[in-house]
Amino acid sequence: MNDRTLEVRNLNVTIRTDRREVRPVNDVSLDVLAGSIVGIVGESGCGKSMTARAVMGLLPYSGKVDGGTVRLCGREITALPEKERRKLRGSEISMIFQEPMTSLNPVIKVGKQVEETIRLHTECSREEAKEKTLAMFREVEIPEAETRYHCYPHQLSGGLRQRVMIAMAMVCKPKLLIADEPTTALDVTVEAQILNLLEHLRDAGTSVLIISHNLGVIARVCDYVYVMYAGRIVEQAATEVLFGRPTHPYTRGLFRSVNSLREGSATLETIPGVVPNLFRLPAGCSFSLRCGQCGANCEKNMPELLETEPDHRVRCFLTEKEDAE
Ligand SMILES: Nc1ncnc2c1ncn2[C@@H]1O[C@H](COP(=O)(O)OP(=O)(O)OP(=O)(O)O)[C@@H](O)[C@H]1O
Ligand SMILES: [Mg+2]
Repeated sequence: MNDRTLEVRNLNVTIRTDRREVRPVNDVSLDVLAGSIVGIVGESGCGKSMTARAVMGLLPYSGKVDGGTVRLCGREITALPEKERRKLRGSEISMIFQEPMTSLNPVIKVGKQVEETIRLHTECSREEAKEKTLAMFREVEIPEAETRYHCYPHQLSGGLRQRVMIAMAMVCKPKLLIADEPTTALDVTVEAQILNLLEHLRDAGTSVLIISHNLGVIARVCDYVYVMYAGRIVEQAATEVLFGRPTHPYTRGLFRSVNSLREGSATLETIPGVVPNLFRLPAGCSFSLRCGQCGANCEKNMPELLETEPDHRVRCFLTEKEDAE
């Protein structure tokens, strides 16, 4: 058995707009080990969703993968024809999208939508598909499953809609579930329930890649974390290592802003500046414009992602220097 459910290597995504090109995903490598929950964290626009979409084979029309490989349980999938990719989606690899309302069809009853997913991927009768749908609704703890089956999306609360999305994603028992900001639109109680559910799915054998800008969500469920900034991984480590020893100045900035919020300090700490426009990235390290410790080298060259301790990687010249001392 392959112990890596997902293996992404040196993935690049290019998007063409008005004869210009940007690269929202740049040399991204990541692994999701079987039976684990892995997180990608970073500010808005850093390329989290594009990474997920590239893995799914669902990039926008203007986007393309132009380098790198994606392996699912050892099998290279980026080069597969679209027909083959479509077969994988929903059956081997599923995604819950950032916008639950727009991903469900507003004019079809939610039960029917889940049923259609089943019938798309498996040979079974309408009755069997309905049975499976109801069983899945119960598994994701949708109360009164029979009644909810006949509801339209707008008749359900945000939490229930997200459960329907998860039911739809999970009904064919995929090997990998990608959850893009699965709880951003939900209140904290429902968020906790959805995160519990993801852990339950992981324990039942599905590996999970969860995307979030919320460090609390990441800390709560992830075994391993990748921090993204302006299209690149800037730090990666097991969750307790990353939270115990955040090392990249950007990661540290993220933690400071969360802590100042938690401690209720009079001035909310934020990382100065904004994520650079992908059209106008600095020549060297992408974070150099906002980094308090930026040196001459940082402005000119892009640091590599290097190990600072076993299985803890950081893309920063400052940590390299510390090592040399
Ligand atoms: N359809 C598109 N055409 C052109 N550029 C796009 C398109 N979609 C996204 N981008 C650019 O790609 C970059 C990465 O976008 P992406 O959606 O992956 O960010 P994200 O990290 O998921 O952000 P968020 O937290 O807001 O969801 C952004 O800078 C965005 O401007
Ligand atoms: Mg996104």
